[in-house]
Amino acid sequence: MRYVGILTSGGDCPGLNAAIRGVCRAGEEAFGLRFIGFCDGFRGLVQDRTLVLGSRELSGILADGGTILGTSRDKPHRMLIDGKVRDMTDAAAAAYRRHHLEALVCIGGGGTQKNALRLKKAGLNVVTLPKTIDNDIVLTDVSFGFDTALGIVAEAVDRLHSTAMSHRRIIVVEVMGHRAGWLALGGGIAGGADVILIPEIPYDPDAVARAISRRNRAGKTFSIVVIAEGAMSQNEARKVSHLAAAKEKAKTKSKKREASEKLDRFHQQHVSHTVRLTRRLEKLTGLESRLTILGHLQRGGTPSAFDRVLATRLGTACAEFLHCRQYGVMIAARGNASQAVALEQVAGKKNVVPLNHSWVRAARQVGTCLGD
Ligand code: F6P
Repeated sequence: MRYVGILTSGGDCPGLNAAIRGVCRAGEEAFGLRFIGFCDGFRGLVQDRTLVLGSRELSGILADGGTILGTSRDKPHRMLIDGKVRDMTDAAAAAYRRHHLEALVCIGGGGTQKNALRLKKAGLNVVTLPKTIDNDIVLTDVSFGFDTALGIVAEAVDRLHSTAMSHRRIIVVEVMGHRAGWLALGGGIAGGADVILIPEIPYDPDAVARAISRRNRAGKTFSIVVIAEGAMSQNEARKVSHLAAAKEKAKTKSKKREASEKLDRFHQQHVSHTVRLTRRLEKLTGLESRLTILGHLQRGGTPSAFDRVLATRLGTACAEFLHCRQYGVMIAARGNASQAVALEQVAGKKNVVPLNHSWVRAARQVGTCLGD
């Protein structure tokens, strides 16, 4: 019997259950593999908490949001155990061996790819699948979860139009995405936002206010501003790159710690930047303004048809790669094909929006202000 472990890790997203079902159904039915699910991400692996994945568990989950396995943001090499951060890589490897696993499937985002690479280096056969609503994983055309979240953002922007119009207001919509602006950009374009602000393009609040006032003078008495949670004004972006450079240059340990603390403080304070921007736009334009934070709504609920197909396609391809004993890879979507990409090429990298991307050009060409 060939046994394979499977876990989901990082933030949940729609399509995880479809992927679990794809891997396990194809693995069992086509290739005779047996699956052992680990609960709550890498924590469940370390603590050897398992879930049987039989046909009953895999039935009726395709359209369900979340993950039947549970998830967490725990990293095997830095796990909080009894109030102390400990390296639990050996415990993870021990659980893997205890179950006589031939491989471990890790379904997750950027952090998961890094954790999987560490486990590969510790001698485990790992295969990963790319999930995240942020769409920021490199070397795959898209990750599952993104399309569903995009639909949610677009629908929210649609709905906010009528209330913004009725009250003649500015509505600022905060969308997830710390380093990559795909969700804000795609959701903003799909929903016809008037301003889209993403981390890749630091914005000038005066330029945003000017764009809104221009619309106002043209008789459009409301505006929708979609902003990624990681977007920054040009001043903030300068500050953060200055702090990061100081951290990089710091010669002594204490100077490095000091610079790192300053950077952390900046990020902690940045959390409420959309509140500040909303107030500022109200002041600069004289128009009443409101903020809507979409938050975890973007990650919840049933996956779109596109995400169900993508997750099933990548999950079943994963089973084929397991069958062929191709390990140490992420199963990526490339055109119509599913390709195995070495984890070393994926871990620690981020797929951010290129400034000349067709979505950026399209947004500008329909007159959307990108804040620069
Ligand atoms: O998983 C990606 C993501 O949804 C990001 O867009 C967001 O910044 C983050 O997770 C939020 O994480 P948490 O649910 O742990 O607060």
